[in-house]
This record gives sequence, C-alpha cells and structure tokens, in this order.
Amino acid sequence: MKTYLVTGGAGFIGSNFIHYMFRKYGDTIRVINLDVLTYAGNLENLKEVEGRDNYTFVKADITDREAVSRVFAENDIDLVVHFAAESHVDRSIRNPEVFVRTNVLGTAVMLNCARAAWEKEDGTYPEGKKFLHVSTDEVYGSLEEDGTFFYETTPYAPHSPYSASKASSDLLVKSYIDTYKFPANITNCSNNYGPYQFPEKLIPLIINNALQGKKLPVYGDGKNVRDWLYVDDHAKGIDMVLKKGRPGETYNIGGHNEKQNIEIVNIILETLQEMLPAGDPRRSYVSKDLITYVEDRKGHDRRYAIAPDKIRTEIGWEPETMFADGIRKTIAWFFEHEEWMKHVTSGAYQKYYDEMYTDRS
Ligand code: NAD
Ligand code: TYD
Repeated sequence: MKTYLVTGGAGFIGSNFIHYMFRKYGDTIRVINLDVLTYAGNLENLKEVEGRDNYTFVKADITDREAVSRVFAENDIDLVVHFAAESHVDRSIRNPEVFVRTNVLGTAVMLNCARAAWEKEDGTYPEGKKFLHVSTDEVYGSLEEDGTFFYETTPYAPHSPYSASKASSDLLVKSYIDTYKFPANITNCSNNYGPYQFPEKLIPLIINNALQGKKLPVYGDGKNVRDWLYVDDHAKGIDMVLKKGRPGETYNIGGHNEKQNIEIVNIILETLQEMLPAGDPRRSYVSKDLITYVEDRKGHDRRYAIAPDKIRTEIGWEPETMFADGIRKTIAWFFEHEEWMKHVTSGAYQKYYDEMYTDRS
C-alpha cells in the first residue's frame, strides 16, 4: 500500500487530486494531506473523504521543518505530491514576501525533509520513492501571439513575484536532482479550472459575479491568452507522471485549449444562459452588459501556451476534456454548491475583493 504525502491538499488542485486518487484507487492507497489552511485552504473541499481510514489531515506549515520532519518520521512516505503554495498572481503583486516564504523556503524544507527521510548511506534511494513538484507554465514567461509554445527546454523568464517564486522552487528541485540524485519530477501545467476553485481566479470569479449580477472585471484589452486545463485531466497527468515519469525529468501539462480572457467570459455567459432554468430570475441580468474593462494587471503576461508533446509521447497522457464540456461541468458544480461559494466568499474575501477591484478604473 503506497503512502502519498500531499501538501496543499485542501486547496483547489490538491483537493481535486485527492478525490481523483480515492475514486481511482479506493482503499488501496493511503493519503496524508499536509496543509496550513491559508485563505485558499478549505476542509469543506474534502468532506467526502474525511471519514476514510486511509486518509489523514495534518495541519502544518511547509516552512515548519519540525512539523514536516515529524510527518516523515511517523509515516513511511512513498510519494510526495507538492502542491502547497501561494498561487495567485494579483496577490503576489500586492504582497510578494509571503510567496518567497511559502513557495521557495517551503519547497526547500519539503525537499530537505524528504531527502533526510529517504536517502540511504550510499547516496541512493529506495525503489519507489518520488517527490513530484507541481509547478506552472508561468515560469517560462510570456509568449507573443505567434503560434509558438512553451517546451520543457524553454528558458525560464518569470515576470511576476508569483512566477519568480515558482521558478526558484523549480530550480531548487532541479538542484536536488543534480546534486543528490534526488528522485523527483517537476510538472509545469497551464491554467486549471473546475470544482472547488477559489473565486479570486478568473473562471470562478466570473461565474460567481455573473450569478449575482455584479460587474465582470476584464483586465486591459481582454485579449491575454491562457491555455485552460480541466483539473481532473491535470490530476490524471500527475498520477501518470508519478508512475511513469523518468527520474529527474520535467513534464509540461497543457490543455490544448488557448483562449483569450474575453472569449472565456463570453463562453461563461452563454453557458450560464443555456443552463439557468426557465423562469430563474438570474436569466434577466446574466448578460454581456455586465462586462467591464478595468485597469490592466501590472506586468501582465500576454500569452501562455503549452505543447504537451513530451508527456504524450513518453507517458501517454493527453487532455481529455473539451472546454465546452469542462465549463458546463464546472458551472453545474457551482450551481450545486451555492453554500460552498457563500462560505468562501464571506468575511475576508469581501475585504480582498474591495481592495483589489473597488478603485480599479
Ligand atoms: P490554491 O491556492 O487553491 O491552494 C494552495 C493550498 O496550499 C491551500 O490549501 C493552502 O492552504 C496551502 N498552503 C499555502 N501555504 C501553505 C504553507 N505555508 N504550508 C502548508 N500549506 C500551505 O492553489 P492551487 O490553484 O490548487 O495550486 C496548487 C499548485 O499548483 C500550486 O503549487 C500552484 O503554483 C500550481 N499551479 C496552479 C495552477 C492553477 O491554475 N491553479 C496552474 C499551474 C500550477
Ligand atoms: P488568473 O485566473 O488570475 O490566472 P493567471 O494570472 O495565473 O493566469 O487570471 C487568468 C487571466 O484572467 C489573466 O490574464 C488575468 C485575467 N483576469 C481578469 O481579466 N480579470 C480578473 O478579475 C482576474 C482574476 C483575472
């Protein structure tokens, strides 16, 4: 029975990954979820699994060496899936330091503790141990609108404090691979969307605002391009890299689904109109009239796009969910989880929203 240590499992992708793994492997795996529960961490995301005998939650900070060492000392961890991070670009522009602390120092602590637990006297590692570092395509910088793509060999050129901190964490992982022959893989994936995504990111923010008849803030000219990946496809890719990834390799995970932000907003509005039941009062105001162009993000990367050729040819992974299907599933999930949205948007979220958007012309 393999034991997975998942960091940041109470966040968006981490919780989807844990659900995916229990759906797929049931009682044949053990999962320990280590998460400090920042504003982005929510145990409500894991209600359905919390009663399982093969699931444990540990509330701890990845920068806390003692707490992380204890988890390794008390459990025979086979696989680390390292999601825990500060993940939002806009927040990183406001408050960069916490990104360095969590994403860089936190990753260093995770690497040190895993190595201390796993490395044998002769410098090798027991069969089956692996550290998978979950990173982002944003480390590669920004592309022109010219049909080029990010590959695993593209030089790093991060622009935001978020992407710079993720790039630093990736380099630390690479340094462990080179220096200590540490058994790790890095995955750099594109923008995810799906259930449980916190409504500070574009897609859940637009869905939530539209359903409440609030303005839909589109930064700049709305033509920045992102490559959108349904979160379950990402979870599947991670599982496959854990199993088949060659030691020390990096794999880019992308959705083959480039869209301008304004296209995303329009698709969400059209899909909401189709899905809201006849007679629902929200049908009267969910419309393009809500779209509001606002001041651009500082240093806003123009385009991200991944060609996921390596993971397809080496590992056999491909994105399976077409955007039209993924967005319907996502919206259906938000319809069914209005209470979840109410809980996460009460309190601190309002303060964040006001600070971020109220004076944005
Ligand atoms: P998220 O912000 O939804 O969740 C982050 C989780 O990490 C939360 O549960 C939070 O409580 C936890 N966390 C934060 N600081 C911590 C600390 N110091 N100690 C322990 N736990 C801590 O993030 P997400 O969108 O699920 O992203 C997960 C990972 O995937 C991140 O590493 C992110 O960089 C990467 N990624 C995300 C996307 C995306 O589109 N969301 C795309 C590419 C890569
Ligand atoms: P986001 O979801 O924050 O992801 P990232 O910055 O990591 O790609 O933003 C996706 C795109 O949407 C990005 O180009 C910024 C833009 N955006 C808006 O136009 N309005 C918004 O309110 C938000 C949150 C993002």
